[in-house]
Amino acid sequence: MRSLTWQQGCLRLLDQTALPGRTEYIDCRDWRRVAEAIRKLEVRGAPAIGAAAAFGLVLAARELAAGPAEFRPALLAAAGELRATRPTAVNLFWALDRMLAVVGRHRDDTSPAAVAAALEEEAMAIAREDEVVNSRIAMSGAPLFSPGSAVLTHCNAGALATVAFGTALGVIGEAWRQGRISRVFADETRPLLQGARLTAWELVQEGIPVTLITDSMAGWVMKLGLAQAAIVGADRITAGGDVANKIGTYTVAVLAQRHGIPFYVAAPLSTFDFSLDSGDDIPIEERHPAEVTGFGGVRTAPAGVDVFNPAFDVTPSELVTAIITEHGVLRPPLRVAIAALRDKKGGR
Ligand code: MRU
Repeated sequence: MRSLTWQQGCLRLLDQTALPGRTEYIDCRDWRRVAEAIRKLEVRGAPAIGAAAAFGLVLAARELAAGPAEFRPALLAAAGELRATRPTAVNLFWALDRMLAVVGRHRDDTSPAAVAAALEEEAMAIAREDEVVNSRIAMSGAPLFSPGSAVLTHCNAGALATVAFGTALGVIGEAWRQGRISRVFADETRPLLQGARLTAWELVQEGIPVTLITDSMAGWVMKLGLAQAAIVGADRITAGGDVANKIGTYTVAVLAQRHGIPFYVAAPLSTFDFSLDSGDDIPIEERHPAEVTGFGGVRTAPAGVDVFNPAFDVTPSELVTAIITEHGVLRPPLRVAIAALRDKKGGR
């Protein structure tokens, strides 16, 4: 199961809006279709949208190299549209910045075809590296769990959200294989049910025992002592250690603190935004009210009701027990631990 694959000029996306009912693929040969897929959450999860956007830019470069438009300005415009698809996950901007840096390293008189080929190499490197990063995160995080633990997770930070095995679910998978995790409580994750549709699906496929709960049950699960830790992914982590992730994550962190259980975040370096100090500065995506007033085309709320639909929230660093990265486990004071990581990440 791969969220995305690159096949000679075609980006094949596993349509995450159709899962778990149908396994369908979207073949993108046009960068505009990639942008649409990111906006519609057909491909989703911070590392996956970064990689998808990188391949989107490859498609744009190939199209422009074969056409009459002025190559560099038109490529920058396409990158701008890919950037505008979703505002919160910094991996999207990180990947596009990395791609544009490749363009910048080529002299102005380099042929567009040569730049397009270099961009393809870079996008494939981003995808390949995600696989290595995922397994390092899994190996770093697994020892944090005592044998036989049950953990709670929110949203989907699995294979579907990355290019390879996932971040939080990668840790869970490795810890399960080591006998450290015996069960996962998966929040369904309203409003778009990434937990119920995607996390539960991934875990069932892997044979990892999973119990699906509604988001509002998380506190009671902890109160009953059924989960000994919580672990989630992230869309953006600031220099101070504040963590943006799927709406509802903040609630899980507050509940974990109340019940004295660790709250872990698993994320690659590409999810850190060293340019932001505080989580207050993270742009939070607001999505269409229809996502809250119903599901699957069935309306559940009265017409005319006001809706607030932020797709993400920010968990303040003081609620985070540790951040699991490909460079090891960061512990408080997170600001200090994150500063030490900074040199390892180029760009933003
Ligand atoms: O709106 P989504 O489904 O893209 O949100 C995804 C999340 O919040 C994930 O937890 C996050 O991107 C981490 S994925 C490894």
